[in-house]
Amino acid sequence: MEHIFKEGNDKQSPTLLLLHGTGGNERDLLPIAEMISPNSSVLSVRGNILENGMPRFFRRLAEGVFDEEDLIFRTKELHDFIEECSNQYQFDRNNVLAIGYSNGANIAASMMYHYQNALAGAILLHPMVPIREVELPNLANTPVFIGAGLNDPIIPKVETKELIETLRAANGTVTEYWGEAGHQLTREEIEQAKQWYDGNF
Ligand code: MLT
Repeated sequence: MEHIFKEGNDKQSPTLLLLHGTGGNERDLLPIAEMISPNSSVLSVRGNILENGMPRFFRRLAEGVFDEEDLIFRTKELHDFIEECSNQYQFDRNNVLAIGYSNGANIAASMMYHYQNALAGAILLHPMVPIREVELPNLANTPVFIGAGLNDPIIPKVETKELIETLRAANGTVTEYWGEAGHQLTREEIEQAKQWYDGNF
């Protein structure tokens, strides 16, 4: 997969896995990684799907309607890719924290839905429910921060709530932040994510 790897000074802090939104690329979330944990190593990946020229991490059939077969395939592909990168770049595979926005948050959530210990933690910014009727692994060791917009036109509030409840039902510790904004990221939510990060890692 197309990616950027930046080695950090602090090998004890989690490696940040950056996953962009639809139409983005591996450069988009670098400033956010810098705000959250400037000394961490960073693995930022570009989604392998192109939808009308816009990179994504998995196919969708319509807005908010995911191609589940592709989602499952791409989730495994990303999961395997992280493993490969951890060997190539020599970072601890068990200490990877995802920061995903929108489509990138959805594939990060999908990794947590499908694989035990896929992530040491996750910052999910404007996520949706990636898939339903899946039995989640135990997420007791996976703290999650969720940033959402009360006026997000793409993601209904009930959908974010459903995601939160599903993660909690799998023993995940979920911290929610609800801003007034829509689908875009806000400085306030990144500051909240930073506080959460500092308290957990
Ligand atoms: C998706 O995965 O399709 C998103 O949540 C919405 C988007 O990325 O535009």
